[in-house]
Amino acid sequence: MLSRAQVIIPVITEHNAMLLQADKDGDLKTIYFGRKLADQAEYNKVAGVYHSSGDYTGVLNSAYTPSGSRNLAEPAISVTHADGNRSLDLKYVSHQVDKLSANVSQLRILLRDPVYAFEVTLYYKLYYKEDVVEQWSVIAHHEKGKVVLDKYASANLYLKADSYWLTQYHGDWAREMQPEETRLTHGIKTLDSKLGTRANLFEPSMFMVALNRPAGEDEGSVLYGSLEWSGNFKIDLEVDPLDNLRVIAGINNFASPYVLTPGEDFTTPEFLYTFSDKGKGDASRKLHTWARNYKIPNGKGSRYTLLNNWEATYFDFNESKLGGLIRDTRKLGVDLFLLDDGWFGNKYPRNGDHAGLGDWQENKEKLPNGLVSLVKEAQTEGVKFGIWVEPEMVNPKSDLYAKHPGWVIKQPKRPEYYFRNQLVLDLANPAVQNFVYGIIDSLFIKNPGLAYIKWDCNAVIYNAHSNYLDKKQSQFYVDYVKGLYKVLERIRSKYPTVPMMLCSGGGGRVDYGAMKYFTEYWPSDNTDPLERIFIQWEYSYFFPAIASANHVTDWGKQPLKFRVDVAMMGRLGFDIVIGKLNPSDLLFCQNSVKTYNSLKPIVWQGDQYRLADPGKSSIASVMYVDSTKASAVVFNYLVNYRYGAESKPILLKGLDPQKQYRVTETNLYPGTKSALDVQTVYSGDFLMTVGFDPIVNANRRSVVLELKELPGK
Ligand code: DGJ
Repeated sequence: MLSRAQVIIPVITEHNAMLLQADKDGDLKTIYFGRKLADQAEYNKVAGVYHSSGDYTGVLNSAYTPSGSRNLAEPAISVTHADGNRSLDLKYVSHQVDKLSANVSQLRILLRDPVYAFEVTLYYKLYYKEDVVEQWSVIAHHEKGKVVLDKYASANLYLKADSYWLTQYHGDWAREMQPEETRLTHGIKTLDSKLGTRANLFEPSMFMVALNRPAGEDEGSVLYGSLEWSGNFKIDLEVDPLDNLRVIAGINNFASPYVLTPGEDFTTPEFLYTFSDKGKGDASRKLHTWARNYKIPNGKGSRYTLLNNWEATYFDFNESKLGGLIRDTRKLGVDLFLLDDGWFGNKYPRNGDHAGLGDWQENKEKLPNGLVSLVKEAQTEGVKFGIWVEPEMVNPKSDLYAKHPGWVIKQPKRPEYYFRNQLVLDLANPAVQNFVYGIIDSLFIKNPGLAYIKWDCNAVIYNAHSNYLDKKQSQFYVDYVKGLYKVLERIRSKYPTVPMMLCSGGGGRVDYGAMKYFTEYWPSDNTDPLERIFIQWEYSYFFPAIASANHVTDWGKQPLKFRVDVAMMGRLGFDIVIGKLNPSDLLFCQNSVKTYNSLKPIVWQGDQYRLADPGKSSIASVMYVDSTKASAVVFNYLVNYRYGAESKPILLKGLDPQKQYRVTETNLYPGTKSALDVQTVYSGDFLMTVGFDPIVNANRRSVVLELKELPGK
């Protein structure tokens, strides 16, 4: 039998390796994280290279740090045993690798406390080609009574470098994904949320850590991480006394000790990560491929272009107005009409955001013939019909609130406190889960032609208290999210293919826990295209373009062409009054939809390259290249309006150097001519080495280039 000291567990993907070692005492440690070695046999030598300098520092690299025994650093797990004791130690017992498919394997490592009947299984799901790892833990015990989990992280990584450069995001409504990059100093930097719902409003769990120097687009080593959880999260990044980086990621244990009865287990959400030594661009393309292949429903499929009525009408519409919009949908040439907020509530009509949430019956004044007649009208016009819901929420002015006060999250002895005049329903309660599921299910049952759902979530949780959970209040934040996922699971098992947009007053809930159920997300209510360039740029590090719902609206001061071009970098939609467009604007929009339909396979399924960073230059330039490198599209924008700001030749990326390409300008406004010379043909080598000037300036603020390989050249 191998001695424990000899147990080396390689966690390997195509380019990367993490090495775990169970040492002579049975402690499981991370001894390497980074690029894979060419000779796998050399992994045995790694343990000998790094020496810890003392008793205490010897446990800093624990692969899942327990607390209350020898470790005094931030733990991954801490518990109160059935007998009240608060110490935990975890020793390696066994591990096993299961091949789930040609590309996916799953490693399980069982750890057990030598003193208490308490165990943790670490799971690593490895997506080989994409270099993506999903890591989580399953915690269980057979003690004589209940054990309280005081902290229960999903993953605990350990990285070695000279310095660590964290890119994190902050934001608010209409200001999502504002990046900040800082050098991590010793001690702990925490990214967290305690908002309950709309958890990413101020800060998402997505982050990057570049090693040794700030992250480059095409060079340098960078770790991407994100928790697949749509609730409170906590990511601790600790530069430890040995100058190494400990990353501990999981559900936020704030106000959330979780009680586990004997024999029960607790599964943490997945912590998602990828690593690249070729920069942020490479890491993001790996995540995109992974997301399309394995996570986002219909990630390799199609999406509907659409006309939305939110900004065109807000709450002010009726059947005949909507009839006109449905006809406009066809006129515009998009696939679907999306009816937004305001269609429901009778005793408390939803004519503003202060009433009606929870009463999901059509408003009889606005829609005397119900949704059925609108769905039918859409069918007659040859377009699809979609609808907005916000099923987790309730306005105090609603029948639902009067009928089920016990379903509402609020403190029994304190005054109610509202976010957008609404409160959150208690999804920890199975009766509420049934209610929420029933809203969606009955919409489909009554309207079989319904083709799309926009699921909104506009409030955070104030006064967190569940009437249902009674004495188990500390489970509330966790059970809420579990309840939400149960509902979404049921919806997806009955309606697996229906497209659904994840909206949270913008990007307040964009994470891969939710994106398992949604085909697209709404990055921001801020649709000013200039702002959207920045917001979409940052989201694109983590999510593929096919999932980004981008609408043309009247926000901002940019010309219509600029607005449409920006919206084309994802799933295109419109939220403008088509009837008010002058003939050439209308013609432009109609032509754009056709152009988009020809380009969308490249935008949705191609590899994305960021060419010019709007945060660093006057130009933003983003490129999508199809997998055969036969065609590409490049979006270029002026983002700085100071005198003299204009483009220079931009180096393209991702092309085949041997291929010859013709570069043309597309999506031109009617009556305008391209400033580009379309006669010259360029090799991929030329375009990637010398570059191409899209001629973006104050008179040509947005330019879309199309590249096509010349056959036989
Ligand atoms: C917030 C969303 O982000 C908007 O797009 C719109 O659906 C409103 N809610 C409706 O209340």
